[in-house]
Amino acid sequence: MKADVLLGLQWGDEGKGKIVDVLTPDYEVISRFQGGPNAGHSLEFNGKKFILHTIPSGVFRNDKLNIIGNGVVIDPVIFAEEIQALKNEGISLGRDNLHISTKAHLILPTHRLLDAASEAAKGRSRIGSTLKGIGPAYMDKTGRNGLRVGDILRPDFMDRYKALTRKHRDLLSMYHYQGAQDDYEKKWFGGIDVIRRFTLVESEYRINELLNHGKTILAEGAQGTMLDIDFGTYPYVTSSNTITAGTLTGLGLAPSRIGKVKGIFKAYCTRVGSGPFPTELQDAHGEFLRRQGHEYGATTGRPRRCGWLDLPALRYAIMLNGVTELIMTKPDVLSGLDHFMVCTHYRINGKVTGQLPYSLEENIEPVYKRFSGWSQDISGIRTYRDLPEELKAYKSFLEKETGVPITMISVGPDREAIVKTGI
Ligand code: IMP
Repeated sequence: MKADVLLGLQWGDEGKGKIVDVLTPDYEVISRFQGGPNAGHSLEFNGKKFILHTIPSGVFRNDKLNIIGNGVVIDPVIFAEEIQALKNEGISLGRDNLHISTKAHLILPTHRLLDAASEAAKGRSRIGSTLKGIGPAYMDKTGRNGLRVGDILRPDFMDRYKALTRKHRDLLSMYHYQGAQDDYEKKWFGGIDVIRRFTLVESEYRINELLNHGKTILAEGAQGTMLDIDFGTYPYVTSSNTITAGTLTGLGLAPSRIGKVKGIFKAYCTRVGSGPFPTELQDAHGEFLRRQGHEYGATTGRPRRCGWLDLPALRYAIMLNGVTELIMTKPDVLSGLDHFMVCTHYRINGKVTGQLPYSLEENIEPVYKRFSGWSQDISGIRTYRDLPEELKAYKSFLEKETGVPITMISVGPDREAIVKTGI
């Protein structure tokens, strides 16, 4: 068997949580391969909303195995809170249905302080981090200083923790950072005890064995391609590889073991945090998208920046990820607009190009194509033929431009609000 991948093609918040939940019945195993509690995967059903940060979005369907891969960074406090919140909803996770890679790195309380100190020191050029300690934790990973989940089983774990924390304190004093930790450290050790209750495993072996035994696996990405550490809008990116390649290193899979790559994109664009965004709208249309789409960060509550769909960036993401099928989310947000726009090319210094330049901070003027809108509420539609002709035309245009079929269209936040296009 091969593992399928599902990931975001824009700046995150494309609706991955919901779509993983919709796809989960087709899979036996759901695994996260990168990122950490900077992610906020939202799911809605039975009139309730859930937000997952670290735990794979397969947990709401019975009998699924959920694996947190080695590429993920885990904050034990947030992890323990997620476990408790799920328990409160009657979803019980244990050794049988949640496995955690021993090689996943831990986010220490001092990583959070370092994140805050580093952002404060950047001043106006700050990244707009979620301040969950992601960057500093991945820096310790690549700097070969990090603490991993497997370390919590070692007798000298406490010594290792103290040594790393000392290093962090030295760094914090260089930043002259005054931030307090309150009782976070105490909660952190409580979270470590919660992690111990699950199956800690060399997940690279586990995942390859599962595939050898014919099990179906879906790898769930976090953030989005334009936030990828190598190919995103650097330095305004996250600290991991959010693209298909991240699945290989984040789960221990060989390239030949990747099957379908399902890429999610919104019918428009959003971005939370700083950094270039060529199609950003600072006008009434931007406000309309934010209001209609409830575009506020699931992890931080920050208002998201909104803009029209950026096709050069989407084509780039499709190329980098080897996307085999597309899933469009939130076209329902466009309902009521007389018209909407799509950026098909960039004009840079008078030259029109379909490619992304070295930096999107360059003086980019989007070249737009205008599309007619539709007035009806489409959130109750469940069959493709009932969708407005204008949306069908938009879909066909995007398929022609990208060369990839759109297999599903999400028309609302609930798990039932899905239209399969029959491709
Ligand atoms: P960090 O990964 O928390 O350091 O944040 C780096 C950048 O990525 C910031 O602009 C964040 O707003 C953005 N970011 C991180 N995680 C997500 C996510 O899950 N969705 C959307 N943006 C994110």
